[in-house]
Amino acid sequence: MIGFKPEKFIEEAVKEIKNSVDGNVIIAWSGGVDSTTTSVLVNKAVGERLLCIFVDTGFMRKNEPERMKEIGKALGLRIKMVDAKNRFLSALKGVKDPEKKRKICGELFIRIFEEEARNFEAKYLAQGTIAPDWIESGGGIRDTIKSHHNVGGLPEKMGLKLIEPLRELYKDEVRKVGKVLGIPKEIYTRQPFPGPGLAIRIVGEVTEERVNIIREACAITEKEIESAVAEGKMEKPWQYFAVLLPTKSVGVHGDVRAYGYTVVIRAVDSIDGMSAAYSKIPHEVLQKISTKITNELKDKVTRVVYDITNKPPGTIEYI
Ligand code: XMP
Repeated sequence: MIGFKPEKFIEEAVKEIKNSVDGNVIIAWSGGVDSTTTSVLVNKAVGERLLCIFVDTGFMRKNEPERMKEIGKALGLRIKMVDAKNRFLSALKGVKDPEKKRKICGELFIRIFEEEARNFEAKYLAQGTIAPDWIESGGGIRDTIKSHHNVGGLPEKMGLKLIEPLRELYKDEVRKVGKVLGIPKEIYTRQPFPGPGLAIRIVGEVTEERVNIIREACAITEKEIESAVAEGKMEKPWQYFAVLLPTKSVGVHGDVRAYGYTVVIRAVDSIDGMSAAYSKIPHEVLQKISTKITNELKDKVTRVVYDITNKPPGTIEYI
């Protein structure tokens, strides 16, 4: 949108929700910029009639559920934390196919939501869908590239009416709206994180061991990149994380042979995720990430590589 004015957008969105919503609203609040901005917008319009459900899938980033609880409280949102770790892990047992993983995660989300929506007697479902989500999910004239989790037909199955106030916005516009709404900087400047979380940063089967490895590798990657940005060594990439490949390769610890996984560091510069260029991270920063990962995940990871593929032809995530 050229000349996008966040204040005007907020005023109109709140008015529209106030005028059209006459019952309880439920939202899947992930703590990302899209769902947080949607929650605060809807909360402005309907107050306590909005319940924000935070589903802990077990595929969250390190310390994320605890931090989100604090932030939700500070924003004055009515939140409910649902511990679904075991349900997600067992639903994904033995599943390797990327789209099946998304489908299983999406369907389990629906089930959990149905339970929560029934308990809350919700009539509406608010979603943080933004323009690239539905464009890439086959909305309109394009082919389906990936069936993104947050556009998975939730409302039809649940019999709830849909509220999607950010539907026409791109990421940079959502960030501007979030800032004006008083959302903490750590949220509105935060990199995007996919709905199925770390489950789609594991190529192949999702197991507890693999989730723990990739959670640690992602935390190290984020921390080192953020430190390098703070020290002025590089620009902050649009998205930066680690991916776990299922194949093992040989390494050496001291004079002992080790056999471990490969971790890919992925960092891209983009405006809206529709296309992306790999980030030109300084070698010294990559070196530090690699050393930390192989030290802290000794015996588990023997190799760290950097992905230099743009989108297209690659996508940002690996599955
Ligand atoms: P891709 O991998 O399609 O990613 O180039 C583009 C943007 O979308 C995010 N992404 C997802 N978000 N559910 C989500 O909510 C998903 O299944 C999913 N897959 C990719 C990705 O992180 C990037 O920001």
